[in-house]
Amino acid sequence: MSSERIRRIGLENVVMADTEITRIDGAAGRLIYRGYDIEDLADNASYEEVAYLLMFGALPDEAELAEFTADLASRRGLPGPLVATIEELADQAAPMTMLRLGLLYLSALDDREDVDDRDLHVDRGMDILAKVPTILAYFDRFRNGREPVEPREDLGHAANFLYMLNGEEPDEATADCLDTCLILPADHGINASTFTARVVTSTQSDIYSAIVGAISAIKGPLHGGASGNVLRMFEEIESPETAGDYIEDMIDRGERVPGFGHRVYETVDPRAVILRGISERLASNADDPAIYEIAHIIEVHMRNEVGIDTNLDYYSAVAYHYLGIPDDLFPLMFCQARVAGWVAQALEQYEDNRLIRPRAEYVGEEDLAYADRN
Ligand code: SDX
Repeated sequence: MSSERIRRIGLENVVMADTEITRIDGAAGRLIYRGYDIEDLADNASYEEVAYLLMFGALPDEAELAEFTADLASRRGLPGPLVATIEELADQAAPMTMLRLGLLYLSALDDREDVDDRDLHVDRGMDILAKVPTILAYFDRFRNGREPVEPREDLGHAANFLYMLNGEEPDEATADCLDTCLILPADHGINASTFTARVVTSTQSDIYSAIVGAISAIKGPLHGGASGNVLRMFEEIESPETAGDYIEDMIDRGERVPGFGHRVYETVDPRAVILRGISERLASNADDPAIYEIAHIIEVHMRNEVGIDTNLDYYSAVAYHYLGIPDDLFPLMFCQARVAGWVAQALEQYEDNRLIRPRAEYVGEEDLAYADRN
């Protein structure tokens, strides 16, 4: 298959919308949310401020942030029947399946008519943004035989998730670390999962369906599913000394090394640079710094010997590991962060919509006759 055909099939470099949400400069390795560089937001904003920025187009002032944060926190609880369903299925459902089931359950309880009304989309989007962390935390507590820890309204988004997951309030530094880890994946233009959300939205379907579709896309190992594979790769490598040979063997087998490469970035993913720094700081206080050492050795090897840089998933996996997140929940951490972007992108699609319907070039047989079959 010609490389041109491969690229067309992957919609490479195809512009499918005008957007005011996110700009990616792949050549320069630059990421901008609504005009702000990702480094500026990661250093100075909270996840709640970034979610507001993405969804509503500007950073909130003090009063807007207080109202948004309180509204979001008030929505964190789950309906009783959904809690019972999570408990019933926690031992057998895969994490991504549980998350999609949870959102479909919420949509089943929402008996409002699916009309194309901005206030309805925003209200549902806020509910999903608030409830996804609770679904994840309850799922993990139940599958480990522990009672769920009810959400608190006095904690920030990141701190409350860690509180519900671990049953104790995190220290400020840990909560701030996770907050930044949630800001970095919050949106990323027309990646596969966001494209899915916009396609579903473009048919004037509801926002629950758009986000369940997006989660179905992000689940794959070429997208958000990579982060779980990154840690499993580290765990197969006996020591930092054998990391280089392990990677060479993977490359020789024609395998894709998880956490590396990107369709848009021609240089290192700026989010990976920030996450590398977070991972290094966390590793310096950890019992198993070798995970970071192995990660860094592989990063340098892939850049120098293969010419491929890390992407978001690589050091996200290292940071989540040191934050004590179970590795099969790494893709769901990506989801809980990306919900803000999916909602923002869906709102933008609803506002200036035309059905998304690309075409394909037919390359199959023609002029066959049933009578001549076999
Ligand atoms: C995310 O799009 C987004 O914005 C996604 C994301 C977001 O925020 O939403 O940034 C998040 O999904 C990051 C990607 C996570 N996935 C992985 O880490 C899985 C491993 N990565 C690869 O499968 C790959 O790099 C992709 C899927 C990410 C990108 O694939 P492309 O653009 O289709 O590139 P390609 O597969 O055609 O590869 C181009 C060349 C190939 O060499 P040739 O076969 O042409 O000689 O680069 C090589 C590939 O072999 N290559 C890799 C590699 N990635 C590309 N070789 C080894 N390991 C890799 N990871």
